[in-house]
Amino acid sequence: MKIPENITAREIEQEKTGISMTWANDGHKSFYSWGWLQARNDNPQFPSELSLWDASVAQNAPTIDYAVVMRSDNGVKQWTSLIRKWGFCYVDGCPVSGEATQELIERIAFIRHTHYGGFWQFTADLGLKDSAYTNLALGAHTDTTYFSDPAGLQTFHLLSHTDGDGGSSLLVDGFKAAETLHRESPEAYETLCRVKIRGHASGNEKVKFMTDLAYPVLATSETRSGEARLRQVRWNNDDRAALVARDPDEIARFYKAARKWVEILRRPEMEYWEQLKPGRPLIFDNWRVLHGRSAFSANMDDFISRWKTLTFSQEEITNSV
Ligand SMILES: [Fe+2]
Repeated sequence: MKIPENITAREIEQEKTGISMTWANDGHKSFYSWGWLQARNDNPQFPSELSLWDASVAQNAPTIDYAVVMRSDNGVKQWTSLIRKWGFCYVDGCPVSGEATQELIERIAFIRHTHYGGFWQFTADLGLKDSAYTNLALGAHTDTTYFSDPAGLQTFHLLSHTDGDGGSSLLVDGFKAAETLHRESPEAYETLCRVKIRGHASGNEKVKFMTDLAYPVLATSETRSGEARLRQVRWNNDDRAALVARDPDEIARFYKAARKWVEILRRPEMEYWEQLKPGRPLIFDNWRVLHGRSAFSANMDDFISRWKTLTFSQEEITNSV
């Protein structure tokens, strides 16, 4: 829609407490206080304290009781706050069934349907051409990097594991890894924030995914002070398509940075290994935490909406819009 040309400010006056504008089309006046303008200028991020972690988190992994989450919205508030802070959380005492796991996740939001279905259970099956379905050890990655909007929350719940001694799960805090990269090689960090690559999934006959645009491995957003804050990690080496490079040097810089990034992700002190257990589902933030298996998903927007509405007042939320 074309905005009529007369919808512009005829007069802008700076006052002590704010700005008043007289509109050209009908002469009506609007007043915007400095506080109101400042709040929008800040591009408000709802405060959520982050705890970055490494392998030592095994001694004190964030956990909540199933009964607490199921009993009240206050329980969901505690749960979503733990996920925001740590990027993951276990739920103890969950009945060992697909139905109970589904009900649990739906305390936050509906389960996102993908080409795998919505809530899905799997066993090692080489008929499906995705490494997630096999027993191959998978390197730390985030899921669905081939979607323009990758899955937000992911859940693992081991329902039965009777054969063999596998099933241990790997988590790596991508924000901690990025912080380490920034400290040890600012140039590599900056390269992964800048160079854009596409993700693709092309192994199955009936699904061929490719992101609409190319995205950087480390996506940042700008804070009020102009500082770039990390908001999303996208990393799956097996789903990586061509990168967008302006010149050959850029390609060389990217691979050098990617090598350093992977070297950090693979450090034993970064890798948190845990044996999954029936009755103890694991929920994690797929925009921050890398994992070594596959899982099912909820949208990031729905998770953040649930956390926000349980944690902040309606007024605080409205005032941030
Ligand atoms: Fe995965």
